[in-house]
Amino acid sequence: MYRSHNCGELSALNINEDVTLAGWVQKSRDKGFIIWVDLRDRYGITQLVFDEERTSKAVMEQAQNLGREFVIQVKGKVIERASKNPNMPTGDIEVLVSELTILNDAILPPFTIEDKTDGGEELRMKYRYLDIRRNPVKNNLIFRHKVTQEVRNYLSKEGFIEVETPYLIKSTPEGARDFVVPSRMNEGQFYALPQSPQTFKQLLMVGGMDKYFQIVKCFRDEDLRADRQPEFTQIDCEMAFIEQEDILNAFEGLTRHLLKEINGVEVEKFPRILYDDAMRLYGNDKPDIRFGMAFGELNEVAQHKDFGVFNNAELVVGIAVPGGNNYTRKEIDKLIDWVKRPQIGALGMVYCRCNDDGSFKSSVDKFYDQDDLAKWAEVTDAKAGDLICILSGETNKVRAQLSALRMELAERLGLRKPNEFAPLWVMDFPLLEWDEETERYHAMHHPFTSPKPGQIELLKTDPGAVKANAYDLVLNGNEIGGGSIRIHDKKTQALMFDYLGFTPEEAKAQFGFLMDAFQYGAPPHGGIAFGLDRLVAILGGQETIRDFIAFPKNNAGRDVMIDAPAPIDDEQLKELSLKLSLEL
Ligand code: AMO
Repeated sequence: MYRSHNCGELSALNINEDVTLAGWVQKSRDKGFIIWVDLRDRYGITQLVFDEERTSKAVMEQAQNLGREFVIQVKGKVIERASKNPNMPTGDIEVLVSELTILNDAILPPFTIEDKTDGGEELRMKYRYLDIRRNPVKNNLIFRHKVTQEVRNYLSKEGFIEVETPYLIKSTPEGARDFVVPSRMNEGQFYALPQSPQTFKQLLMVGGMDKYFQIVKCFRDEDLRADRQPEFTQIDCEMAFIEQEDILNAFEGLTRHLLKEINGVEVEKFPRILYDDAMRLYGNDKPDIRFGMAFGELNEVAQHKDFGVFNNAELVVGIAVPGGNNYTRKEIDKLIDWVKRPQIGALGMVYCRCNDDGSFKSSVDKFYDQDDLAKWAEVTDAKAGDLICILSGETNKVRAQLSALRMELAERLGLRKPNEFAPLWVMDFPLLEWDEETERYHAMHHPFTSPKPGQIELLKTDPGAVKANAYDLVLNGNEIGGGSIRIHDKKTQALMFDYLGFTPEEAKAQFGFLMDAFQYGAPPHGGIAFGLDRLVAILGGQETIRDFIAFPKNNAGRDVMIDAPAPIDDEQLKELSLKLSLEL
């Protein structure tokens, strides 16, 4: 038996018990005649004590030579501590050691393995196994396990069946690039790793599985950000014989269950917003609605004077910053610099102070009188003491800029509270999205998403205006899930491929299997996929998904611990019939 107890469970109730513990040496304090060692395992820390009077000379000597992160086993007696530590669960006791076995020594770790570490991000990624010994990372992994288990329990109870789908497949179009895998047995041919199991889950519906889910790895070769990893995990779900409302209810149920079980938070029915309204009111398809600061469009009340900047703009739009009239001129200038940074790209910012006495003071007083400014305040819902920030320009750009400003200010004002949860369904996404690079329309979600009833004809005349039966679930300003009702007849699917610019041959080559399947009785179906990493991070009150992944990749898509990706040797290349050419 390696241990009778773990390092987190002994308390005053165990005093006088003989125990065996095993773990890592977190630190030791050697006063010569007495040595204290903090012994750590997954469950906590227990203080060990060795002292000249009660510990044998041989064990004292062993204890003197313990280094950080040595793996040891000790036998001893639980005793009451002279100076108790109320901040530690085991703080009332210590273990007086009589036997010490060094199970393994350790070289000095490259950073301190404590809650607050001196190790930088990259170093901790390189030695992730050491980072996992630290509470913040370990607790995140345990938290993830809890969420995953709740998901499995809930969906299983609701009658969903977890089915595994293959990883070595053909491209699934989710809008990113594929990671590809060469096939040794099929010279010159490649598998693609799934960007999602989208086509397979639809085939499972044709197969009659009716309620499917899978906690599954997905792979996307795209630029990385705090909320994106090249391999990430989805809770992928699909249902047959359902309408959009059934899906929304089913997965609102799951999310509500998680918020309750994991966070102890009860949430009312989730609000819904149309995509068009989300863009108009928040400049964003994943608005954070934990706070207000909704956009007020000012064209009507600001384009009647001689201020050319506003008159020439497609959109003039502002937000009221609560209490923002406190900002000094210097602070406002800094805000203006902030929106003018290349990452945001605004040309400038007009502002209007809402004074406590009900008067206004704007940066464009030359053009606008108090009555005009009062209308701005009305449109942006500004109160006395607020600051109205206004941007103008081309609609899409200016919305994105003001959205970035809204989020930045909310962050600075502490309005993005991590333990407050504001879910939101965003509904009726556009079916298609114009791609500047290829100069054609792409499916915004994926090409299996059905247009809203009666809108398919619009594809010919005004493709950009067609809305889809597609929805996203947003939590605290993050897209945690997305899905749609699918096209389930072969004719409509063929039409969609046609509109998306696939020739019948291309459509057949890429998706012939799905079109074929649709000939054999495909039920009406739809589904959703949650980003598990994002969901877990947000439920955990954070937004960086890396912190909730055991072995994440860095921003360049590298695993710095195992040093991947890496070249392969010539022999392997030959076997795969590959020739490396760095010339493009
Ligand atoms: P979608 O592409 O919207 O839909 O993906 C679903 C959810 O997965 C998460 N996600 C990511 N998380 C981390 N890193 C990434 N690179 C990443 N990309 C996406 C997001 C997102 O909401 N097959 C469809 C679902 C369906 O239609 O049922 C799909 O994959 O949280």
